[in-house]
Amino acid sequence: MRSALQSSGFPHPDGATLINLAPADIKKEGAAFDLPIALGMLAAIGIIERERLTRTAMVGELALDGSIRSVKGGLPIASKLSSIYEVDALLVPVNNAEEASLAAGAFPVYPVANLRDAVEFFTEGGILPYRADLQEYMDRHDSLQPDFGEVKGQAMARRAMEIAAAGGHNSLMIGPPGTGKSMIAQRLSGILPSMTLEETLETSRIYSVLGMLSNGEPLLNKRPFRSPHHTISDVGLIGGGKNPRPGEISLSHNGVLFLDELPEFKRNVLEVLRQPLENGLVHVFRAAGSYTFPADFMLVAAMNPCPCGMQDPALGCRCKPDEKRRYRHKISGPLLDRIDLHVEVVHLTHDELLAAPDGESSATILERVTAVRVIQSKRFAKQKIFCNAGMSSRDLQKYCQMDANCKMMLRHAVTNFKLSPRAYDRILKVSRTIADLTLSPEIKEEHLFEAISYRSMDRTDW
Ligand SMILES: Nc1ncnc2c1ncn2[C@@H]1O[C@H](COP(=O)(O)OP(=O)(O)OP(=O)(O)O)[C@@H](O)[C@H]1O
Ligand SMILES: [Mg+2]
Repeated sequence: MRSALQSSGFPHPDGATLINLAPADIKKEGAAFDLPIALGMLAAIGIIERERLTRTAMVGELALDGSIRSVKGGLPIASKLSSIYEVDALLVPVNNAEEASLAAGAFPVYPVANLRDAVEFFTEGGILPYRADLQEYMDRHDSLQPDFGEVKGQAMARRAMEIAAAGGHNSLMIGPPGTGKSMIAQRLSGILPSMTLEETLETSRIYSVLGMLSNGEPLLNKRPFRSPHHTISDVGLIGGGKNPRPGEISLSHNGVLFLDELPEFKRNVLEVLRQPLENGLVHVFRAAGSYTFPADFMLVAAMNPCPCGMQDPALGCRCKPDEKRRYRHKISGPLLDRIDLHVEVVHLTHDELLAAPDGESSATILERVTAVRVIQSKRFAKQKIFCNAGMSSRDLQKYCQMDANCKMMLRHAVTNFKLSPRAYDRILKVSRTIADLTLSPEIKEEHLFEAISYRSMDRTDW
């Protein structure tokens, strides 16, 4: 403080200064309080009018020379201020101005480069507010994405990805090495519908807290696609730590969490996914208190069927049945239960391999996905869910009515494949999405049949 005040040409109060960050029971972290502390000190010695401080919010880290550095969380700070406090203005570091002004709403946001600027705001008022154009950020898209049109064969996996993207369902691809599992998952981003404004702000807040936004990219305008490495810790995946921070599942909020080589993840890391996969939130408990982070993501996972990857002795697999079972058992039943679409990715035939890719482009698939998302947003207009995967049991009763034939087919599937009640619900949700993809208001037998066919792992000897 002393150094920043002196370098900026301001006097420093004589003697020791006591600074009280009340209330004491809330843990404070980071350097964002530097600027308010400095301005408070200047108000204490009469350089700034005290009255002016009461309705102005400010954040910023001070360097020793009095310049102001950016802070983490500009966006959530601005949006929280706009919802609960009576604030006339917000002073932020220049690098936080875009994100803060996008979320500020009613009050103006003033970027300040150094302490002198901040004082000038209170004394002469010559600082201009920053206004960002929200629509402009929402309309930005990058065009250099890998395309589904490059994938050869694998019709079933491509279809499953389309269903997953359309209804927000979880999926698992199983198959030998080099058949395109990772390739297909990486193309999922290109067929996800654009985020609504509400979703954009929700997800961007998380990125802002972790300091992952900046001027130039103040908002996340496309759905996140996170693919953490399998060596990740449970804290890295779920969130937590001494000063709890969101993990990869929260960074995937409203987007995709891709876990490649699923069995390589530590089992305890995978098990902690169970709760967020069920309710879209994660609770982190620490001595200092409990924290809840949003974590509503679509899970996409990929794995080989056995340690060597080939599965079939005809293809050279030498894995013993015991080894195969141990490998698969790294994925627990309850986790598998939460995955709606089990997809076998098979070896390409010679003809497929030699032929040019003949699949649809991502743009064509995206058109269908977007149409289905429109149906869903009308369906759930009065609810706080965005897609079929988010339906509650009551929604299932309302939107997944079936005729007698369908009910019989379901009863048959439940008894023969020993499906859990959860798997049963999830089949209904997937059938709803498949019906939506054909623009059918009712769920018909063929829709249900296809949905059941994606539960293949419930039927095999897992
Ligand atoms: N269906 C396919 N169409 C076109 N190219 C493919 C296909 N499958 C694989 N390839 C080619 O092989 C490469 C490796 O594929 P990919 O990494 O997706 O395999 P994988 O199934 O994830 O294997 P692993 O189990 O070893 O992780 C791709 O980058 C691509 O060049
Ligand atoms: Mg792979």
